[in-house]
Amino acid sequence: MIELYEPAAGEQGKRLLCDLPETSTHVTGDRALLGQLLANLIENALRHSGDAEAVEISLNQTAGQVVLTLADSGPGIPAADRDKVLQRLYRLDRSRGTPGHGLGLALVDGVAKLHGARLELIDNAPGLRVVITFDS
Ligand SMILES: Nc1ncnc2c1ncn2[C@@H]1O[C@H](COP(=O)(O)OP(=O)(O)OP(=O)(O)O)[C@@H](O)[C@H]1O
Ligand SMILES: [Mg+2]
Repeated sequence: MIELYEPAAGEQGKRLLCDLPETSTHVTGDRALLGQLLANLIENALRHSGDAEAVEISLNQTAGQVVLTLADSGPGIPAADRDKVLQRLYRLDRSRGTPGHGLGLALVDGVAKLHGARLELIDNAPGLRVVITFDS
């Protein structure tokens, strides 16, 4: 997914910085849906992060868990809106000028739930950090 999005990121003057484990990491689930989850999060980090250049993507395996993190240093999502953006069609006012329908994070939430994973939207100070914790 990272290779797929690198050209688009480059065209926008952004970089996808990856921190992936040296050994392979496994999560049991639906490959296509997990791909869509990643695609939506990468697209969001590229589209909604303003002038911030770097998107950091990491995967960490700890005892019994796989943690996927995507972090940008754009404007982030105010704490009061972090639950609302998971609802379908909800977009922050400032995003009205960007393309999209407010469906991506609802899909991400649905796919995470389907996989029994925990989804957290956290202040990256500045920016948004999305953390998804899978049981492995
Ligand atoms: N990385 C981010 N930084 C800042 N705001 C974000 C970020 N990701 C999402 N948002 C905010 O959350 C809203 C909802 O995101 P969501 O992915 O559901 O919809 P969208 O990106 O606007 O459209 P779609 O995903 O349907 O193309 C966005 O419109 C934006 O306001
Ligand atoms: Mg989106």
